[in-house]
Amino acid sequence: DLTPSTGGGGAAREVEAVGVVGSGTMATGMVEVFATSGFPVTYVARSQEKVDAVAAKIAKNLTRKVDKGRMEQADADAVLGRLTGSLERESLADVDLVVEAIAEEIGIKNQLFADLDRICKDGAVLATTTSSLSIADLAARTKRPQDVVGMHFFNPAPVMKLVEVIDQEHTGQDVLDTVVELCKRTRKVPVRCSDRAGFIVNALLFPYLNDAIKAHEAGSSLDEIDAAITAGYGYPMGPFALLDVVGNDVALAIEEELLAEFGHESLTPAPLLREVVAAGKLGRKTGEGFRSY
Ligand code: 3HC
Repeated sequence: DLTPSTGGGGAAREVEAVGVVGSGTMATGMVEVFATSGFPVTYVARSQEKVDAVAAKIAKNLTRKVDKGRMEQADADAVLGRLTGSLERESLADVDLVVEAIAEEIGIKNQLFADLDRICKDGAVLATTTSSLSIADLAARTKRPQDVVGMHFFNPAPVMKLVEVIDQEHTGQDVLDTVVELCKRTRKVPVRCSDRAGFIVNALLFPYLNDAIKAHEAGSSLDEIDAAITAGYGYPMGPFALLDVVGNDVALAIEEELLAEFGHESLTPAPLLREVVAAGKLGRKTGEGFRSY
């Protein structure tokens, strides 16, 4: 039940300032979502180039909206004025809620959660948009597991409405209420999921994407499969167009997680997926994936 609770210690916490950790596709999209919804956003990246790239990408998206007459230039300027890029996690000391979207590697995420625990003020919500790691494991790296929650956004975050909200054993009801309230303020649709590999969407989506690769290995071309799915299923993108948007490295990590948890032979990642990842063909972000960009 995602209705904000009333009383019982479950009232939503106040969120005024938001933090984002990361500078990749998801982090950039989330920064845009929060800043467009009126929140001052502090985001932390690992280099000045990455800090600048996040702001440049958002500026480009806003310019497109202004050009299409969907946004006033003054509003676009105000959104950009709400961004503060930083190289230091310590800049997150005063935010009310942090969402992280850094590399999907357990060691790196564990260190981040230990840092957030040390740095963030009492009562800050610590959220992750991990798509393949356990929220409970990340919560266990902190001394405040009641504050730790999953907020799984979808790519492209400024467009996709869904946020999967994942609680673990210790997540406070007030933290869930806070996240639901934040989804409302950012015009997202929250859906609660249990802390299970793939949550809801990826557990259903990635076996299909993997099967598409196997169908290609069996002889159908990329274009044939994409055309069949868009025209025959009504999906907005075929599987290979989507894999190149999501990132083949991300797809492989999710498939390995699904295989490890559910153990079905059919979930074994397609050999071609491993090959494209090994070759650095990660998708649009590297200029080449299943197709070239
Ligand atoms: N950033 C910001 N805005 C974007 C964007 C992006 N990357 N891509 C598209 N948009 C905006 C466009 O500007 C346009 O806005 P407007 O209506 O204000 O002009 C609007 O989205 C529609 O775009 P287009 O008309 O250019 O193109 P489409 O109609 O093809 O829509 C799409 C684009 C919404 C991306 C659509 O193709 C789609 O829904 N694709 C499937 C996406 C999907 O399945 N995502 C989930 C992936 S799984 C995941 O994220 C989980 C993770 O854990 C891996």
